[in-house]
Amino acid sequence: MLILGVNAMHADASAALLVDGRLVAAVEEERFTRIKHASGTPVEAIRWVLEHAGAKAADLDHVAFSKSPHAHRARRAGHVLVHAARTRHLPLQRLTARRRFLSLDEEIRAALGGPVSSELRTHYVEHHPAHISSAFYASEFDEAAVCSIDGLGDFVSMAWGTGRDRRLDVSNRVFFPHSLGYFYTAVTQLLGFPNYGDEYKVMGLAPYGSPRYLPEMRRVLRASDEGFRLDQRYFRHEREEVEWRVDGGAPVIGTLYSQELTELLGPARLASEPIDERHRDVAASAQARLEEVILPLLARVRASTGMPALCLAGGVALNVTVNSRIIGAETGFDAVFIQPAASDAGTSLGAAMHVAHHQLGAARAAPMRDVYLGPSFSSEQCRDALEQAGLGYERLDLKSLCRRTAGYIAEGRIIGWFQGSMEFGPRALGNRSIVCDPRRSEMKDVLNARTKRREAFRPFAPSVLTERVAELYETDGVSPFMLTAPRVRPEWRDRLGAVTHVDGTGRIQTVDRERNERYWQLISAFEALTGVPALLNTSFNENEPIVCTPKEAIACFLRADMDVLVLEDLLVSRN
Ligand SMILES: [Fe+2]
Repeated sequence: MLILGVNAMHADASAALLVDGRLVAAVEEERFTRIKHASGTPVEAIRWVLEHAGAKAADLDHVAFSKSPHAHRARRAGHVLVHAARTRHLPLQRLTARRRFLSLDEEIRAALGGPVSSELRTHYVEHHPAHISSAFYASEFDEAAVCSIDGLGDFVSMAWGTGRDRRLDVSNRVFFPHSLGYFYTAVTQLLGFPNYGDEYKVMGLAPYGSPRYLPEMRRVLRASDEGFRLDQRYFRHEREEVEWRVDGGAPVIGTLYSQELTELLGPARLASEPIDERHRDVAASAQARLEEVILPLLARVRASTGMPALCLAGGVALNVTVNSRIIGAETGFDAVFIQPAASDAGTSLGAAMHVAHHQLGAARAAPMRDVYLGPSFSSEQCRDALEQAGLGYERLDLKSLCRRTAGYIAEGRIIGWFQGSMEFGPRALGNRSIVCDPRRSEMKDVLNARTKRREAFRPFAPSVLTERVAELYETDGVSPFMLTAPRVRPEWRDRLGAVTHVDGTGRIQTVDRERNERYWQLISAFEALTGVPALLNTSFNENEPIVCTPKEAIACFLRADMDVLVLEDLLVSRN
Protein backbone atom coordinates (compact mmCIF):
# COMPACT_ATOMS: atom_id res chain seq x y z
CA MET A 1 0.00 0.00 0.00
CA LEU A 2 1.38 3.38 -1.04
CA ILE A 3 0.42 6.54 0.85
CA LEU A 4 1.69 9.91 -0.30
CA GLY A 5 1.70 12.61 2.38
CA VAL A 6 1.67 16.23 1.22
CA ASN A 7 2.12 19.56 2.96
CA ALA A 8 0.90 22.05 0.35
CA MET A 9 -1.02 24.67 2.30
CA HIS A 10 1.65 25.74 4.77
CA ALA A 11 5.26 26.87 4.57
CA ASP A 12 7.95 24.22 4.19
CA ALA A 13 5.94 22.40 1.52
CA SER A 14 7.00 18.77 1.44
CA ALA A 15 6.16 15.24 0.40
CA ALA A 16 6.63 11.90 2.15
CA LEU A 17 5.95 8.37 1.00
CA LEU A 18 4.88 5.37 3.09
CA VAL A 19 5.15 1.93 1.49
CA ASP A 20 3.27 -0.66 3.53
CA GLY A 21 3.52 1.63 6.55
CA ARG A 22 7.28 2.10 6.17
CA LEU A 23 8.68 5.58 5.59
CA VAL A 24 10.84 5.34 2.46
CA ALA A 25 11.32 8.96 1.40
CA ALA A 26 10.64 12.50 2.58
CA VAL A 27 11.86 15.83 1.26
CA GLU A 28 11.06 19.53 1.33
CA GLU A 29 10.21 21.38 -1.87
CA GLU A 30 12.79 24.10 -1.02
CA ARG A 31 15.58 21.62 -1.63
CA PHE A 32 14.64 21.58 -5.31
CA THR A 33 13.31 25.09 -5.93
CA ARG A 34 16.11 26.66 -3.82
CA ILE A 35 13.62 29.05 -2.22
CA LYS A 36 13.82 28.98 1.58
CA HIS A 37 10.70 27.54 3.26
CA ALA A 38 9.06 27.21 -0.18
CA SER A 39 5.27 27.10 -0.02
CA GLY A 40 2.64 25.86 -2.43
CA THR A 41 2.21 22.56 -4.20
CA PRO A 42 5.42 20.55 -3.75
CA VAL A 43 5.56 19.32 -7.33
CA GLU A 44 9.26 18.43 -7.38
CA ALA A 45 9.15 16.78 -3.96
CA ILE A 46 6.18 14.62 -4.97
CA ARG A 47 7.89 13.51 -8.16
CA TRP A 48 11.10 12.73 -6.34
CA VAL A 49 9.57 10.56 -3.57
CA LEU A 50 7.71 8.49 -6.16
CA GLU A 51 10.77 8.13 -8.37
CA HIS A 52 12.92 7.20 -5.38
CA ALA A 53 10.53 4.38 -4.49
CA GLY A 54 10.39 3.23 -8.11
CA ALA A 55 6.66 3.94 -8.09
CA LYS A 56 4.33 5.50 -10.63
CA ALA A 57 1.33 7.70 -9.98
CA ALA A 58 -0.92 4.75 -10.82
CA ASP A 59 0.57 2.76 -7.90
CA LEU A 60 -0.64 5.23 -5.29
CA ASP A 61 -3.51 4.16 -3.04
CA HIS A 62 -3.94 7.28 -0.90
CA VAL A 63 -2.96 10.94 -0.87
CA ALA A 64 -3.03 12.61 2.54
CA PHE A 65 -2.97 16.40 3.02
CA SER A 66 -1.99 17.99 6.31
CA LYS A 67 -4.85 20.47 6.37
CA SER A 68 -8.58 20.10 6.39
CA PRO A 69 -11.31 22.36 5.01
CA HIS A 70 -13.75 20.64 7.36
CA ALA A 71 -11.95 21.24 10.66
CA HIS A 72 -13.62 23.68 13.08
CA ARG A 73 -15.81 25.14 10.38
CA ALA A 74 -18.31 26.71 12.74
CA ARG A 75 -15.59 28.51 14.68
CA ARG A 76 -13.96 29.75 11.50
CA ALA A 77 -17.28 30.95 10.13
CA GLY A 78 -17.94 32.71 13.43
CA HIS A 79 -14.63 34.52 13.17
CA VAL A 80 -15.30 35.57 9.59
CA LEU A 81 -18.71 37.01 10.56
CA VAL A 82 -17.49 38.82 13.68
CA HIS A 83 -14.55 40.19 11.76
CA ALA A 84 -16.73 41.36 8.87
CA ALA A 85 -19.16 43.04 11.27
CA ARG A 86 -16.31 44.88 12.97
CA THR A 87 -14.25 45.96 10.00
CA ARG A 88 -16.77 45.74 7.14
CA HIS A 89 -14.55 43.48 5.12
CA LEU A 90 -14.24 39.73 4.99
CA PRO A 91 -10.95 38.07 5.95
CA LEU A 92 -9.91 37.34 2.41
CA GLN A 93 -7.34 34.74 3.31
CA ARG A 94 -9.97 32.46 4.78
CA LEU A 95 -11.93 32.63 1.55
CA THR A 96 -8.94 32.15 -0.73
CA ALA A 97 -7.84 29.22 1.42
CA ARG A 98 -11.14 27.53 0.66
CA ARG A 99 -10.73 28.13 -3.06
CA ARG A 100 -7.24 26.73 -2.81
CA PHE A 101 -8.58 23.47 -1.39
CA LEU A 102 -10.87 23.02 -4.35
CA SER A 103 -7.98 23.12 -6.79
CA LEU A 104 -5.47 21.28 -4.62
CA ASP A 105 -6.52 17.76 -5.42
CA GLU A 106 -6.34 18.56 -9.13
CA GLU A 107 -2.93 20.20 -8.77
CA ILE A 108 -1.56 17.14 -7.01
CA ARG A 109 -2.97 14.82 -9.61
CA ALA A 110 -1.29 16.97 -12.25
CA ALA A 111 1.98 16.98 -10.28
CA LEU A 112 1.97 13.18 -10.18
CA GLY A 113 2.76 13.33 -13.86
CA GLY A 114 0.79 10.30 -14.98
CA PRO A 115 -2.59 8.58 -14.83
CA VAL A 116 -3.80 7.64 -11.34
CA SER A 117 -5.79 4.66 -10.17
CA SER A 118 -9.57 5.08 -10.06
CA GLU A 119 -9.29 3.75 -6.49
CA LEU A 120 -6.99 6.60 -5.40
CA ARG A 121 -8.45 8.24 -2.30
CA THR A 122 -7.75 11.74 -1.03
CA HIS A 123 -7.74 12.50 2.72
CA TYR A 124 -7.65 15.84 4.48
CA VAL A 125 -6.04 15.39 7.88
CA GLU A 126 -6.45 18.25 10.34
CA HIS A 127 -3.16 20.11 10.78
CA HIS A 128 -2.44 19.36 14.45
CA PRO A 129 -3.32 15.66 14.36
CA ALA A 130 -0.92 15.55 11.38
CA HIS A 131 1.85 17.14 13.48
CA ILE A 132 1.06 14.81 16.36
CA SER A 133 1.02 11.73 14.11
CA SER A 134 4.49 12.61 12.83
CA ALA A 135 5.74 12.42 16.41
CA PHE A 136 3.70 9.56 17.89
CA TYR A 137 3.83 7.04 15.03
CA ALA A 138 7.53 7.75 14.46
CA SER A 139 8.31 7.17 18.14
CA GLU A 140 9.17 3.97 19.93
CA PHE A 141 6.26 4.34 22.38
CA ASP A 142 3.20 2.08 22.27
CA GLU A 143 1.43 4.59 24.48
CA ALA A 144 2.21 8.22 25.10
CA ALA A 145 0.84 11.66 25.79
CA VAL A 146 0.88 13.58 22.51
CA CYS A 147 1.14 17.30 21.91
CA SER A 148 1.71 19.82 19.14
CA ILE A 149 2.49 23.51 19.51
CA ASP A 150 2.85 25.91 16.58
CA GLY A 151 1.74 29.23 15.14
CA LEU A 152 -1.56 28.25 13.61
CA GLY A 153 -3.01 25.43 11.56
CA ASP A 154 -6.70 24.80 10.88
CA PHE A 155 -7.59 27.53 13.39
CA VAL A 156 -5.69 25.75 16.19
CA SER A 157 -2.31 26.60 17.73
CA MET A 158 -1.89 23.77 20.22
CA ALA A 159 -3.46 20.34 20.68
CA TRP A 160 -2.89 17.44 23.01
CA GLY A 161 -4.23 14.03 23.99
CA THR A 162 -3.08 10.44 23.95
CA GLY A 163 -1.78 7.87 21.52
CA ARG A 164 -2.32 4.17 22.07
CA ASP A 165 -0.91 1.75 19.52
CA ARG A 166 -2.69 2.74 16.28
CA ARG A 167 -5.16 5.22 17.74
CA LEU A 168 -4.91 8.88 18.57
CA ASP A 169 -7.26 10.75 20.83
CA VAL A 170 -6.65 14.47 20.43
CA SER A 171 -9.47 16.16 22.29
CA ASN A 172 -7.82 19.26 23.75
CA ARG A 173 -7.14 22.34 21.66
CA VAL A 174 -6.19 25.99 21.99
CA PHE A 175 -7.85 27.98 19.21
CA PHE A 176 -7.07 31.11 17.20
CA PRO A 177 -6.25 33.87 18.12
CA HIS A 178 -4.28 32.45 21.06
CA SER A 179 -0.95 31.05 19.96
CA LEU A 180 2.46 30.51 21.53
CA GLY A 181 3.98 30.44 18.05
CA TYR A 182 2.45 33.82 17.19
CA PHE A 183 3.65 35.23 20.50
CA TYR A 184 7.22 34.25 19.65
CA THR A 185 6.94 35.33 16.02
CA ALA A 186 5.59 38.75 17.06
CA VAL A 187 8.60 39.30 19.33
CA THR A 188 10.88 38.02 16.55
CA GLN A 189 9.45 40.63 14.17
CA LEU A 190 9.69 43.37 16.81
CA LEU A 191 13.37 42.53 17.23
CA GLY A 192 14.02 43.15 13.54
CA PHE A 193 14.02 39.59 12.15
CA PRO A 194 11.26 39.75 9.54
CA ASN A 195 11.66 36.50 7.64
CA TYR A 196 9.58 33.39 8.00
CA GLY A 197 11.44 30.99 10.28
CA ASP A 198 13.61 33.61 12.04
CA GLU A 199 12.42 32.59 15.52
CA TYR A 200 15.55 30.56 16.17
CA LYS A 201 17.54 33.80 16.05
CA VAL A 202 15.62 35.08 19.07
CA MET A 203 16.23 31.77 20.82
CA GLY A 204 19.96 32.18 20.10
CA LEU A 205 19.94 35.80 21.28
CA ALA A 206 18.04 35.15 24.52
CA PRO A 207 20.97 33.81 26.61
CA TYR A 208 22.85 37.09 26.03
CA GLY A 209 20.15 39.09 27.82
CA SER A 210 18.41 39.21 31.15
CA PRO A 211 14.64 38.74 31.43
CA ARG A 212 13.88 42.17 32.83
CA TYR A 213 10.73 42.49 30.71
CA LEU A 214 9.19 39.36 32.20
CA PRO A 215 6.44 41.32 34.02
CA GLU A 216 5.47 42.89 30.66
CA MET A 217 5.56 39.51 28.91
CA ARG A 218 3.24 38.14 31.57
CA ARG A 219 0.68 40.76 30.56
CA VAL A 220 1.07 39.90 26.88
CA LEU A 221 0.88 36.12 27.30
CA ARG A 222 -1.27 34.94 30.19
CA ALA A 223 -1.92 31.49 31.59
CA SER A 224 -5.58 30.46 31.55
CA ASP A 225 -7.85 27.48 32.17
CA GLU A 226 -7.70 26.52 28.47
CA GLY A 227 -3.92 26.78 28.50
CA PHE A 228 -2.94 30.37 27.73
CA ARG A 229 -4.27 33.58 26.24
CA LEU A 230 -2.72 36.36 24.21
CA ASP A 231 -3.85 39.82 25.28
CA GLN A 232 -5.16 40.95 21.91
CA ARG A 233 -4.30 44.60 22.56
CA TYR A 234 -0.69 43.71 21.76
CA PHE A 235 -1.39 41.86 18.52
CA ARG A 236 -3.02 42.57 15.18
CA HIS A 237 -4.08 39.17 13.92
CA GLU A 238 -7.44 39.02 15.63
CA ARG A 239 -8.51 42.64 15.10
CA GLU A 240 -7.19 43.14 11.59
CA GLU A 241 -6.27 40.88 8.78
CA VAL A 242 -2.59 40.04 8.94
CA GLU A 243 -1.23 39.30 5.53
CA TRP A 244 -0.12 35.74 4.92
CA ARG A 245 1.04 35.31 1.36
CA VAL A 246 3.49 33.52 -0.85
CA ASP A 247 5.92 35.81 -2.65
CA GLY A 248 8.01 34.21 -5.39
CA GLY A 249 7.49 30.84 -3.72
CA ALA A 250 8.53 32.02 -0.23
CA PRO A 251 6.09 32.51 2.65
CA VAL A 252 5.62 36.04 3.97
CA ILE A 253 3.76 36.81 7.17
CA GLY A 254 2.61 40.36 7.94
CA THR A 255 3.32 42.22 11.15
CA LEU A 256 1.67 40.44 14.07
CA TYR A 257 2.41 42.94 16.84
CA SER A 258 0.47 46.13 17.46
CA GLN A 259 1.53 49.65 18.35
CA GLU A 260 0.70 48.79 21.99
CA LEU A 261 3.44 46.17 22.09
CA THR A 262 6.05 48.71 21.01
CA GLU A 263 4.76 51.06 23.72
CA LEU A 264 5.21 48.26 26.22
CA LEU A 265 8.62 46.96 25.13
CA GLY A 266 10.14 49.88 23.26
CA PRO A 267 10.36 50.63 19.54
CA ALA A 268 10.76 47.91 16.96
CA ARG A 269 14.29 47.35 15.70
CA LEU A 270 14.99 47.82 12.01
CA ALA A 271 16.83 44.89 10.47
CA SER A 272 19.73 47.23 9.66
CA GLU A 273 20.09 48.54 13.23
CA PRO A 274 22.60 47.10 15.68
CA ILE A 275 21.37 44.78 18.42
CA ASP A 276 21.57 46.45 21.84
CA GLU A 277 21.00 45.47 25.43
CA ARG A 278 17.25 46.11 25.31
CA HIS A 279 16.86 43.80 22.30
CA ARG A 280 18.78 41.08 24.11
CA ASP A 281 16.64 41.55 27.20
CA VAL A 282 13.40 41.42 25.21
CA ALA A 283 14.57 38.15 23.64
CA ALA A 284 15.49 36.76 27.06
CA SER A 285 12.13 37.82 28.47
CA ALA A 286 10.10 36.26 25.65
CA GLN A 287 12.03 33.02 25.95
CA ALA A 288 11.59 33.00 29.73
CA ARG A 289 7.85 33.63 29.40
CA LEU A 290 7.51 30.85 26.82
CA GLU A 291 9.16 28.39 29.18
CA GLU A 292 7.10 29.69 32.11
CA VAL A 293 3.89 28.91 30.22
CA ILE A 294 4.80 25.70 28.38
CA LEU A 295 6.30 23.69 31.22
CA PRO A 296 3.27 23.88 33.56
CA LEU A 297 1.05 23.17 30.55
CA LEU A 298 3.02 20.03 29.79
CA ALA A 299 2.76 19.12 33.47
CA ARG A 300 -1.02 19.35 33.05
CA VAL A 301 -0.83 17.13 29.97
CA ARG A 302 1.21 14.65 31.99
CA ALA A 303 -1.29 14.68 34.87
CA SER A 304 -4.45 14.50 32.76
CA THR A 305 -3.22 11.69 30.49
CA GLY A 306 -1.40 9.71 33.16
CA MET A 307 1.24 8.83 30.57
CA PRO A 308 4.94 9.07 31.47
CA ALA A 309 6.17 9.52 27.88
CA LEU A 310 5.52 12.50 25.60
CA CYS A 311 5.54 12.82 21.80
CA LEU A 312 5.89 16.38 20.60
CA ALA A 313 5.84 18.26 17.28
CA GLY A 314 4.97 21.68 15.82
CA GLY A 315 7.29 24.59 15.13
CA VAL A 316 7.59 25.53 18.81
CA ALA A 317 9.03 22.04 19.44
CA LEU A 318 12.20 23.30 17.70
CA ASN A 319 12.85 25.47 20.78
CA VAL A 320 15.72 23.48 22.25
CA THR A 321 15.83 25.53 25.43
CA VAL A 322 12.27 24.46 26.25
CA ASN A 323 12.97 20.91 25.11
CA SER A 324 15.94 20.61 27.44
CA ARG A 325 13.63 21.15 30.41
CA ILE A 326 10.85 18.72 29.48
CA ILE A 327 12.13 15.57 31.09
CA GLY A 328 12.11 15.82 34.87
CA ALA A 329 10.30 17.31 37.82
CA GLU A 330 8.98 20.40 36.02
CA THR A 331 6.60 18.36 33.85
CA GLY A 332 6.76 14.85 35.34
CA PHE A 333 7.58 13.24 31.99
CA ASP A 334 10.40 10.73 32.04
CA ALA A 335 10.76 10.24 28.28
CA VAL A 336 10.15 12.38 25.23
CA PHE A 337 10.28 11.94 21.47
CA ILE A 338 10.31 15.06 19.34
CA GLN A 339 9.75 14.71 15.62
CA PRO A 340 12.97 16.05 14.03
CA ALA A 341 10.96 17.65 11.21
CA ALA A 342 8.84 19.37 13.85
CA SER A 343 7.91 22.31 11.64
CA ASP A 344 5.25 22.08 8.94
CA ALA A 345 7.54 20.01 6.68
CA GLY A 346 6.89 17.07 9.01
CA THR A 347 3.14 17.26 8.52
CA SER A 348 3.39 15.51 5.13
CA LEU A 349 4.81 12.55 6.97
CA GLY A 350 2.27 12.95 9.78
CA ALA A 351 -0.73 13.11 7.44
CA ALA A 352 0.39 9.91 5.69
CA MET A 353 0.93 8.17 9.05
CA HIS A 354 -2.45 9.34 10.34
CA VAL A 355 -4.16 7.75 7.35
CA ALA A 356 -2.09 4.55 7.60
CA HIS A 357 -2.48 3.85 11.29
CA HIS A 358 -5.31 5.87 12.78
CA GLN A 359 -7.70 5.71 9.84
CA LEU A 360 -6.84 2.43 8.11
CA GLY A 361 -5.60 0.57 11.20
CA ALA A 362 -2.33 -0.61 9.63
CA ALA A 363 0.22 -1.99 12.09
CA ARG A 364 2.92 0.46 13.15
CA ALA A 365 6.35 0.23 11.56
CA ALA A 366 9.75 0.48 13.25
CA PRO A 367 10.46 3.85 14.93
CA MET A 368 12.10 6.60 12.91
CA ARG A 369 15.82 6.21 13.56
CA ASP A 370 17.27 8.91 11.36
CA VAL A 371 16.35 11.70 8.93
CA TYR A 372 18.38 10.57 5.91
CA LEU A 373 15.32 10.36 3.67
CA GLY A 374 16.15 12.68 0.76
CA PRO A 375 18.12 12.59 -2.51
CA SER A 376 21.55 10.95 -2.71
CA PHE A 377 24.21 10.96 -5.44
CA SER A 378 26.78 8.40 -6.52
CA SER A 379 30.52 8.93 -6.51
CA GLU A 380 30.34 9.10 -10.32
CA GLN A 381 27.77 11.87 -10.22
CA CYS A 382 30.00 13.77 -7.77
CA ARG A 383 33.02 13.23 -10.04
CA ASP A 384 31.13 14.53 -13.08
CA ALA A 385 30.09 17.65 -11.17
CA LEU A 386 33.69 18.30 -10.07
CA GLU A 387 35.00 17.84 -13.59
CA GLN A 388 32.38 20.19 -14.94
CA ALA A 389 33.49 22.78 -12.40
CA GLY A 390 37.12 22.18 -13.36
CA LEU A 391 38.15 21.13 -9.85
CA GLY A 392 40.84 18.54 -9.18
CA TYR A 393 40.10 15.79 -6.65
CA GLU A 394 41.48 12.68 -5.02
CA ARG A 395 39.51 9.47 -4.52
CA LEU A 396 40.18 7.92 -1.10
CA ASP A 397 38.98 4.90 0.86
CA LEU A 398 36.89 5.75 3.90
CA LYS A 399 39.67 5.37 6.43
CA SER A 400 42.14 7.60 4.56
CA LEU A 401 39.39 10.07 3.71
CA CYS A 402 38.42 10.47 7.36
CA ARG A 403 42.03 10.64 8.53
CA ARG A 404 42.95 13.31 5.99
CA THR A 405 39.81 15.32 6.62
CA ALA A 406 40.26 15.11 10.40
CA GLY A 407 43.80 16.44 9.94
CA TYR A 408 42.51 19.43 7.99
CA ILE A 409 39.89 20.10 10.64
CA ALA A 410 42.50 20.02 13.40
CA GLU A 411 44.52 22.59 11.42
CA GLY A 412 41.57 24.97 11.52
CA ARG A 413 40.27 24.45 7.99
CA ILE A 414 36.59 24.68 7.06
CA ILE A 415 35.21 21.54 5.42
CA GLY A 416 32.12 21.00 3.26
CA TRP A 417 31.01 17.43 4.03
CA PHE A 418 28.56 15.88 1.57
CA GLN A 419 27.56 12.22 1.68
CA GLY A 420 24.57 9.88 1.40
CA SER A 421 20.91 10.86 1.50
CA MET A 422 20.05 14.43 2.36
CA GLU A 423 18.38 15.18 5.68
CA PHE A 424 14.64 15.76 6.08
CA GLY A 425 13.85 18.62 8.47
CA PRO A 426 15.68 21.83 9.32
CA ARG A 427 18.95 20.40 10.65
CA ALA A 428 21.95 19.13 8.73
CA LEU A 429 23.02 16.03 10.62
CA GLY A 430 26.26 14.99 8.98
CA ASN A 431 25.22 14.36 5.37
CA ARG A 432 25.04 17.98 4.16
CA SER A 433 27.16 19.70 6.81
CA ILE A 434 29.95 22.21 7.14
CA VAL A 435 32.29 20.90 9.81
CA CYS A 436 35.28 22.37 11.62
CA ASP A 437 37.27 22.32 14.85
CA PRO A 438 35.05 22.71 17.94
CA ARG A 439 38.05 23.62 20.13
CA ARG A 440 38.91 26.86 18.37
CA SER A 441 36.69 29.63 19.77
CA GLU A 442 37.59 31.85 16.84
CA MET A 443 35.93 29.39 14.42
CA LYS A 444 32.54 30.76 15.46
CA ASP A 445 33.39 34.28 14.26
CA VAL A 446 35.23 33.03 11.20
CA LEU A 447 32.26 30.92 10.12
CA ASN A 448 29.64 33.56 10.90
CA ALA A 449 31.55 36.28 9.04
CA ARG A 450 33.33 34.46 6.24
CA THR A 451 31.35 31.39 5.34
CA LYS A 452 27.79 31.68 6.54
CA ARG A 453 27.49 35.49 6.45
CA ARG A 454 25.08 35.71 9.34
CA GLU A 455 24.68 37.47 12.69
CA ALA A 456 27.71 37.25 14.96
CA PHE A 457 25.72 36.19 18.03
CA ARG A 458 24.43 32.98 16.52
CA PRO A 459 25.78 29.83 18.13
CA PHE A 460 27.04 26.68 16.45
CA ALA A 461 26.25 23.15 17.49
CA PRO A 462 28.44 20.12 18.10
CA SER A 463 28.16 16.57 16.75
CA VAL A 464 29.41 14.25 19.49
CA LEU A 465 30.10 10.53 19.54
CA THR A 466 27.18 8.94 21.39
CA GLU A 467 29.45 6.67 23.40
CA ARG A 468 31.27 9.64 24.92
CA VAL A 469 28.58 12.32 25.16
CA ALA A 470 28.00 11.86 28.90
CA GLU A 471 31.64 12.69 29.60
CA LEU A 472 31.32 16.04 27.82
CA TYR A 473 27.74 17.09 28.61
CA GLU A 474 25.36 16.85 31.54
CA THR A 475 23.21 14.25 29.83
CA ASP A 476 22.99 10.52 29.60
CA GLY A 477 20.55 10.62 26.73
CA VAL A 478 20.84 10.07 23.03
CA SER A 479 20.05 13.20 21.02
CA PRO A 480 20.42 12.26 17.35
CA PHE A 481 18.37 15.19 16.03
CA MET A 482 19.94 18.24 17.69
CA LEU A 483 16.79 18.97 19.67
CA THR A 484 18.15 19.48 23.18
CA ALA A 485 20.87 21.68 24.64
CA PRO A 486 22.41 20.24 27.81
CA ARG A 487 25.12 21.97 29.84
CA VAL A 488 28.74 21.39 28.93
CA ARG A 489 30.69 19.84 31.82
CA PRO A 490 33.05 22.47 33.29
CA GLU A 491 36.17 20.43 32.55
CA TRP A 492 35.26 20.46 28.82
CA ARG A 493 34.35 24.15 28.40
CA ASP A 494 37.80 25.18 27.22
CA ARG A 495 38.01 22.36 24.72
CA LEU A 496 34.59 23.07 23.21
CA GLY A 497 34.97 26.83 22.85
CA ALA A 498 33.40 27.13 19.38
CA VAL A 499 30.28 25.13 20.22
CA THR A 500 29.50 26.28 23.75
CA HIS A 501 26.83 28.95 23.91
CA VAL A 502 27.13 31.95 26.21
CA ASP A 503 24.91 30.19 28.78
CA GLY A 504 27.23 27.17 28.95
CA THR A 505 25.05 24.84 26.89
CA GLY A 506 25.51 23.06 23.58
CA ARG A 507 22.80 21.99 21.12
CA ILE A 508 24.14 18.50 20.67
CA GLN A 509 23.72 15.92 17.96
CA THR A 510 24.82 12.52 19.20
CA VAL A 511 26.27 10.35 16.45
CA ASP A 512 26.39 6.58 16.56
CA ARG A 513 27.85 4.12 14.16
CA GLU A 514 24.55 2.44 13.43
CA ARG A 515 22.79 5.62 12.31
CA ASN A 516 25.62 7.25 10.35
CA GLU A 517 28.73 5.12 9.83
CA ARG A 518 30.71 7.58 7.70
CA TYR A 519 30.09 10.60 9.91
CA TRP A 520 30.88 8.50 12.98
CA GLN A 521 34.16 7.49 11.32
CA LEU A 522 35.04 11.13 10.65
CA ILE A 523 34.42 12.21 14.25
CA SER A 524 36.31 9.14 15.49
CA ALA A 525 39.29 10.07 13.31
CA PHE A 526 39.25 13.58 14.80
CA GLU A 527 39.07 12.05 18.28
CA ALA A 528 42.06 9.81 17.52
CA LEU A 529 44.02 12.89 16.53
CA THR A 530 42.96 15.35 19.23
CA GLY A 531 41.24 13.45 22.04
CA VAL A 532 38.05 15.46 21.39
CA PRO A 533 35.13 13.26 20.24
CA ALA A 534 33.20 16.13 18.67
CA LEU A 535 33.03 18.42 15.64
CA LEU A 536 31.38 21.75 15.02
CA ASN A 537 28.50 21.01 12.64
CA THR A 538 26.49 23.59 10.76
CA SER A 539 24.27 23.18 7.73
CA PHE A 540 25.92 23.14 4.31
CA ASN A 541 24.50 26.39 2.91
CA GLU A 542 24.95 30.13 2.87
CA ASN A 543 21.62 31.98 3.36
CA GLU A 544 19.84 29.50 1.10
CA PRO A 545 18.24 26.07 1.60
CA ILE A 546 20.72 23.34 2.55
CA VAL A 547 22.57 22.16 -0.57
CA CYS A 548 21.01 19.10 -2.19
CA THR A 549 23.10 18.21 -5.26
CA PRO A 550 26.88 17.96 -5.80
CA LYS A 551 26.66 20.98 -8.11
CA GLU A 552 25.06 23.10 -5.37
CA ALA A 553 27.66 21.86 -2.89
CA ILE A 554 30.50 22.90 -5.21
CA ALA A 555 28.96 26.33 -5.83
CA CYS A 556 28.52 26.91 -2.08
CA PHE A 557 32.05 25.64 -1.37
CA LEU A 558 33.51 28.20 -3.78
CA ARG A 559 31.21 31.07 -2.86
CA ALA A 560 31.47 30.61 0.91
CA ASP A 561 35.24 30.42 0.93
CA MET A 562 35.64 26.94 2.44
CA ASP A 563 39.00 25.15 2.39
CA VAL A 564 38.14 21.53 1.72
CA LEU A 565 35.23 19.79 0.04
CA VAL A 566 34.38 16.13 0.48
CA LEU A 567 31.82 14.71 -1.96
CA GLU A 568 31.27 11.06 -1.09
CA ASP A 569 34.76 9.51 -1.47
CA LEU A 570 36.26 12.45 -3.37
CA LEU A 571 38.34 15.10 -1.65
CA VAL A 572 38.99 18.57 -3.00
CA SER A 573 41.48 20.86 -1.28
CA ARG A 574 41.80 24.49 -2.32
CA ASN A 575 45.45 24.78 -1.46
FE1 LIG B 1 2.13 23.70 11.96
